[in-house]
This record gives sequence, C-alpha cells and structure tokens, in this order.
Amino acid sequence: MNVPISPLANARETDASFPVEVYRRDFPILAKTVNGNPLVYLDSAATSQKPRTVLETIERYYTEFNANVHRGVHWLSEQATRLYEDARGKLQRFIGAAEAREIIFVRGATEAINLVAQSFGRTRLQPGDDIIVSHMEHHSNIVPWQILCEQTGANLRVIPIDDAGELQIDAFERMLSPRTKIVAIVHVSNSLGTVNPVERIIRSAHREGARVVLDAAQSVPHMPIDVQSLDCDFCVFSGHKMYGPTGIGVLYGKAEWLEAMPPYQGGGDMIRSVTFEKTTYNTLPYKFEAGTPHIAGAIGLGAAVDYLNSIGMESIRRHEQELLSYAHSRLQTVGNVKIIGNAAKKAAVISFVLDDVHPHDVGTILDQQGIAVRTGHHCCQPVMDRYGIPATVRMSLGLYNNTEDIDALVRGLEVVRQVFGIANV
Ligand code: ALA
Repeated sequence: MNVPISPLANARETDASFPVEVYRRDFPILAKTVNGNPLVYLDSAATSQKPRTVLETIERYYTEFNANVHRGVHWLSEQATRLYEDARGKLQRFIGAAEAREIIFVRGATEAINLVAQSFGRTRLQPGDDIIVSHMEHHSNIVPWQILCEQTGANLRVIPIDDAGELQIDAFERMLSPRTKIVAIVHVSNSLGTVNPVERIIRSAHREGARVVLDAAQSVPHMPIDVQSLDCDFCVFSGHKMYGPTGIGVLYGKAEWLEAMPPYQGGGDMIRSVTFEKTTYNTLPYKFEAGTPHIAGAIGLGAAVDYLNSIGMESIRRHEQELLSYAHSRLQTVGNVKIIGNAAKKAAVISFVLDDVHPHDVGTILDQQGIAVRTGHHCCQPVMDRYGIPATVRMSLGLYNNTEDIDALVRGLEVVRQVFGIANV
C-alpha cells in the first residue's frame, strides 16, 4: 500500500543539506506542547515518533483492507496477504537479506532473541559450551542466554568494557574457543551509544565456528545495515525504534539456520498438516509465525521503511552524527555534567550524570520544561554497576532532532542546576 509520503519526497534524495525542518513536519506529535512548552523529544532510543505516512498507512489498512492473512480466498484476505508480504520484501531489501523468507516478523528485538535462544540454542548447546555476550548488553540480550545456560549447562562469558565504554576486543578474542557456540552482541549500545566493531567480532567468532546474533535495535534506525556484508547469522531489531509501530519487529536469520531450527511456538499458520499422531511444519518464514500476526504492524513498518528510504539512511547517519558531536560539545559546557561513555565511535545516544542530583530529578525538571529524556538504568544494570552509578540521564536522537533541541536541553540543565543550587559552582 502506498500512502504518498509527501510531495517533497523526490526532492529529498538529492538535497544534501538534510532539511530537518521539512522532516519535522512529517511527525504530527512534534507540534505538541508539553507542560506549557514546545515538546523537545530526546528519547528516540526508547521509542521513535511516527511519521504521518506510517499513521495513515495503518489507518488505511484497517479502513480498506482489513482481513486475516494466508487464510481466505476472498478479496480482502488476498489484499491483506499481499500487503503483509510486500512489507516483508521491503524489510528484506532494507537490511540486504538474500531472501524474503529470512525475514521473520516477531513482536520486537526481545522476542527475536528469545526465539533464537530457545529454537537455535536449546537444540545445539551442550554442558560446557560457551555463550559470549558483552558487559554493555541490554537485559534482553543477557537474560534469554542465562535461561538457556540453566537449561543446557552452557556457560555465559562476558566481554569486559573499558572506562570509555569500548569493548575489550583482545579479551574477547582470547575468550573464543571451540566451545564457543554463540556470540550475542549489541551493534550500538542503548546506554552508552558505543558503536561496536561488529565486523571484526563476527569474523573472529566465525573462525572458531561460533554463530553470531547481532542486536541491531539501536543501529538499524540510525545507519545503513547490510546483513550479508556483515555476515551475521542472526540480526534482530524492533519496528517502534525505526519510526514504525510498537509490537512488531524482525528476526533475520540465514536460511540455512532457520531451516534447521524447530518452531518456537505452535499454532495456526505454522503447520503444513496436523493430525493427533503427527504434525508437519510450514516452510519459512511461516514456521516461525504461529497465530494471526501483527498484520497492521508489519504493513506500518513497511511504510516506515519507505519513509526512511525516501530520506536515505546515509543522510540520516550523517545528520545524527553532526548533531551528536554538537550535543557532546554543548553538554561539556554545562557545569557538573559528566558524560558516561566516551567511545571513539558513538551513535545517537549520550548518557550523563549531573553531580549528586539523582537522574530521576533531572528528568522530572526537564519534563516540566517539555523536554523528554530517559532516566534510569536503561535495562542495562551491569553497565551502571561497571561505572558505580545507579542510573544516568540519557538523551537520544532521531532524524527529526535539530540543534534547537540540544540548546533547549542545555538550558533545561541550567534550570536543574539552579533548582539544586549548584549553578556557578
Ligand atoms: N531498550 C529501550 C531503551 O533503551 C527501551 O530505552
């Protein structure tokens, strides 16, 4: 389904200057005022805002084409099925997968990791095998592997991080052995912003015969990704962080692994035939899509991909990189601010603390000024432990952010300093 993106869509691809003010108008929510102030949204790592084309595509799907997929011979069902499968093709091309059947629609990155752990991992791991994660993983890329370790007797090994928030790659390479079966690694850290050298990690893991699960939830919305050139075995991401709806995400897996894996959930659509004696399973990708899927979500996510393509991922990456360096230098001018995570390569995220002021208080005072940031451990308690802090304030960027947003944050932090009596200290 093609809800027109905007009359400016064609002009965009050739506009090297990134007309952020034009793109901002695509996001109706950005016109809101919050607590009497214009909304300054700096929490896209938690979830991105949605462009009008995604909202309209979902509405149009429900208004004109709503039916169940793969089940009916009637016209509506055929349309819904076509739109749903078109969306799969858009995702395939967006991440450079070899085949559409390698794209499994799931609820989000979390469900995708649990699927790989239980379907791929549980059938292959033996007591004494190793699963390697890093110290900067989100809980969703730790806990499913801990559960798998309890089930199989495998060991969880952890790649350390240094003070700057970079992975200690030498330690990782020493950790690798023929016992290593899975390396589950985040591409861009949601708490530190570090961009990890995943090409090297994947090459090293493959040399030992290990399979790599790439958590790309915080990279796919911010930079071009090509799963075939990365050569990861699995790649997971969530739709709602890439301008699509909540409740939909993608598991990419190389067909050779997905073919060999047992289903994760049983139910309708994932079977070829069912008798009480024996059930046979459907082909890929349906084997992993039991039950009625999130049809509107997938179609909405397809519209988000169209939207991103209309701007270009490389342009988005450049714009956000420029804004990130601007934010880094502006934040460094605010007294009492300490940035947590100073990796040489970062994307879209800056975590910081403000002396003894609790991050929740910082977040609350910013909110009173209409500024949305996330505060807390960001589902990364081991990262907080590593730095000996309970929480951080995190500002995170989307393609719609501009320098005014960063200036508003800086002004907001000055208000926090005044409220806590630490200004001009
Ligand atoms: N994982 C999301 C975040 O970092 C929710 O905020």
